[in-house]
Amino acid sequence: MSERLLLTDDEVRALREALTGRPPQEILRKAYELFGQTAAISFSGAEDVALIAMCHEEGISLPVFTLDTGRLHPETYELLQQVRDKYGVQIEVFSPEAAAIERLTREKGLFSFYQDGHEECCGIRKVAPLRRALASRRAWITGQRRDQSPDTRANVPVVEIDGRFGSPDRQLLKFNPLALWPSQRVWSFIRAAEVPFNALHARGFVSIGCAPCTRAILPGEHERAGRWSWEEATHRECGLHK
Ligand code: ADX
Ligand code: SF4
Repeated sequence: MSERLLLTDDEVRALREALTGRPPQEILRKAYELFGQTAAISFSGAEDVALIAMCHEEGISLPVFTLDTGRLHPETYELLQQVRDKYGVQIEVFSPEAAAIERLTREKGLFSFYQDGHEECCGIRKVAPLRRALASRRAWITGQRRDQSPDTRANVPVVEIDGRFGSPDRQLLKFNPLALWPSQRVWSFIRAAEVPFNALHARGFVSIGCAPCTRAILPGEHERAGRWSWEEATHRECGLHK
C-alpha cells in the first residue's frame, strides 16, 4: 500500500485513464493495492453485492459498510444478513444520530419529505452517517453506474477525487468500478455467480432505497423513476453522490 498521503490531480487522471474500460475486478484490486483496509465498499444493493462477490472470488479483502437509515425495507435488512453469511464479511452498520432524528420527527413527523423534499431527512439519515463512515477512510467504492440515470449519473468516472466528503487536507478517492457496466451486465453476473439479491426485485423494484421513498416501476419506466417519484428527475439524488 502507498505510504503517501496524497495523489496529485495528474496521478488520479492517469489512474482513471488506465482503469476506464478495465474489468471491475481489476479496479477493485487497484483500489486495494493503493489503499488496503483504508478503502471500503459502500453497500446497499445489487451492484454492491456484485462487488463484494468479485472481491470474494479474487481474494480481495476490502472492508464493507452500510448506512442503516432506519427506514429500509425488511427485505433489505434480510439481504444484508445473507451477504454477511454467504461471503463471511463483517458489514459495519452506521446509524443516524438519535438526537437529530428525534428533533426532526418531533417537529415535522415521520413523512416530512413528501411535503418539503428529501434533503433534510436524507441529510440526517444518510449524509451525516456517511461522513462518519468516511472520516477515517482514504477511498470508498460504490456501485454507481452511468446508465442508472441520464439526468444525474451519465458522467460517473471509474475513479475521482471526492471533494464532497474529502478535503484538500484529507484526500478521499471514490472508485465506481461498475460505472461503465449497463444493468443487464450486472444482472448477468449476479445470476451466473449466484449472488444474493433483494427479494423486492422480484416484485418490480429496480433501484431500492428507503421504503417510503421507493416504489416499484412500470414497464418502460427508467430504473430510478421509482426513487423519490414525487420529485423532479434531476433532484433524485440523496446527497451521497451529488
Ligand atoms: S442513492 O444515492 O440514490 O441512494 P443508489 O441507491 O443509486 O444511491 O446507490 C448507489 C451507490 O451508493 C450504491 O451502489 C452504494 O455504493 C451507495 N449507497 C446508496 N445507499 C447506501 C446505503 N444506504 N448505505 C451504503 N451505501 C449506499
Ligand atoms: Fe429519509 Fe427518504 Fe432520504 Fe430515506 S430516502 S433518508 S426516508 S428522505
